[in-house]
Amino acid sequence: MTQRILVARAIFPETLARLRAHFDVEDNPDDAVPTREQLLAKLRDKAGVLTTGGERIDAELLDACPQLRAVCNMAVGYNNIDVPACTARGVVATNTPDVLTETTADMGFALMMAAARRMAEGERYLRAGHWKKWSYDMLIGHDVHGSTLGILGMGRIGQAIARRGALGFGMQVIYHNRSRLAPELEAPLGARWVDKATLLREADHLVLVLPYSAASHHAIGAAELAQMKPTATLTNIARGGIVDDAALAAALREGRIAAAGLDVFEGEPAVHPGLLEVPNVVLTPHVGSATLATRRAMADLAADNLIAALTGGTPPTPLNPEVLARR
Ligand code: GLV
Repeated sequence: MTQRILVARAIFPETLARLRAHFDVEDNPDDAVPTREQLLAKLRDKAGVLTTGGERIDAELLDACPQLRAVCNMAVGYNNIDVPACTARGVVATNTPDVLTETTADMGFALMMAAARRMAEGERYLRAGHWKKWSYDMLIGHDVHGSTLGILGMGRIGQAIARRGALGFGMQVIYHNRSRLAPELEAPLGARWVDKATLLREADHLVLVLPYSAASHHAIGAAELAQMKPTATLTNIARGGIVDDAALAAALREGRIAAAGLDVFEGEPAVHPGLLEVPNVVLTPHVGSATLATRRAMADLAADNLIAALTGGTPPTPLNPEVLARR
């Protein structure tokens, strides 16, 4: 019998067509965001699901949907999936690393530059008709080139941002991560591992690229913001919840840091009202990987994972390879 799968949100028609060649697919052409109850109901008779990062897959859901064998996220971050709970039940979990690294690093760099050079503020100023004359101090920002780039979380995307900074913009790169990079990765970037306090104190532009977990919740809050330079920028392209958005809004309002660039938010798509009120923040709606080529590559990889996981193949990017070894 053809296995049934759910594609939780709207997706490229080509990806759906590929999946339909293998499975009986329930799709979501209207792209309605399923409630928790709807997701549970939809998954009761499914062997697999293509999630997009927003659908919570936890022990309760897995127990209610015992037929589920594969959960394939179209995202590199997988804080929506309880991987140990999947592993305990023999459910394959996958994500989409690598294919989005450079695109997401571009976005991080763009947000950092936009924050440092006050681009969104400048555009709002111009569109509002306020631009009447040149002034020596109009929209004065802070240099990116030659400054100190601080990176919190130095995985694939962090390293791609470091390459842009070191090789393209002559920045000194400092980073903090649980584990140090191998010397052969540090050397070409001149990257230096520092403790978190040093990172906060020395970075001119701090970029967050670490995964969200209980351990990274509010990794940047009032106490951390207080250690940063008043001229510094903060960019978050990782996950909402890593930054205490209320504390950040207060720091921006009071000029305790210069500016921020944010692509992710606590409780998104809601945005803390304090962030909407301050001028010195560039806000984008979680689009770090949103280029056509990269979104296609992510969809293809998620589909490859799902097809392999449910047809006895080897998924290219498993999060719990031990499940595959057991079957
Ligand atoms: C996007 O946020 C992702 O994790 O891919």
